[in-house]
Amino acid sequence: MADAAIEVFRADAEDAEGIARVHGRARAKAYADLDVAQRGREPLPAERVELWRDLLGRDDDRAFTIVAEDGGEAVGFCSVSTESRDPDAPDGTGEIAALYVDPERWGGGIGAALMTQAVADLREAGCAAATLWVLAENAPAIRFYARFGFAPDGLGGPDPQTGRPKARLHATLTS
Ligand SMILES: CC(C)(COP(=O)(O)OP(=O)(O)OC[C@H]1O[C@@H](n2cnc3c(N)ncnc32)[C@H](O)[C@@H]1OP(=O)(O)O)[C@@H](O)C(=O)NCCC(=O)NCCS
Repeated sequence: MADAAIEVFRADAEDAEGIARVHGRARAKAYADLDVAQRGREPLPAERVELWRDLLGRDDDRAFTIVAEDGGEAVGFCSVSTESRDPDAPDGTGEIAALYVDPERWGGGIGAALMTQAVADLREAGCAAATLWVLAENAPAIRFYARFGFAPDGLGGPDPQTGRPKARLHATLTS
């Protein structure tokens, strides 16, 4: 369970700085743990804030980000789409587009709090299923997603950002 002080809510452009910080820190730690090298360069911190400000400014009912805060500070986020970007996805398939928690808080239930909200939002939007993509070797994340009913559906391919294999996970969202 996440700490009772954790607040989970829909992010807007004002949350760009906190989300960008969590994003940069979590990616760096996750890639180091998995020993994967990023192709090309990661955005500088200020560039990442601008990217998020732009993205969050465009959020709507179909593509939005949920943020988790502790004492007013962002500690994790989840980007959700009610329409999967996968061309083979049937209507009514949503997508978990990104999920990151500050590395100092891993294992503290923040990821679960974000996923619980994301799945509730997808169901409320009428999604009967959802997909997400993960590095095939990211076993801790795959184990985490299994708790929410996500399992590999056999689709895979190289991750353009690292060249390493990615796997698609699929879940049926029951109400
Ligand atoms: C995957 C992630 C979002 C989970 O968030 P979290 O707040 O740590 O998750 P919770 O505390 O709710 O749940 C703990 C579970 O997360 C998983 N987990 C993944 N990485 C972990 C880590 N380094 N430390 C602890 N748990 C981790 C485990 O399955 C763990 O379950 P366990 O206790 O049975 O081992 C977070 O670890 C993260 O940001 N990882 C880096 C980015 C990433 O891999 N994102 C998902 C793939 S795109």
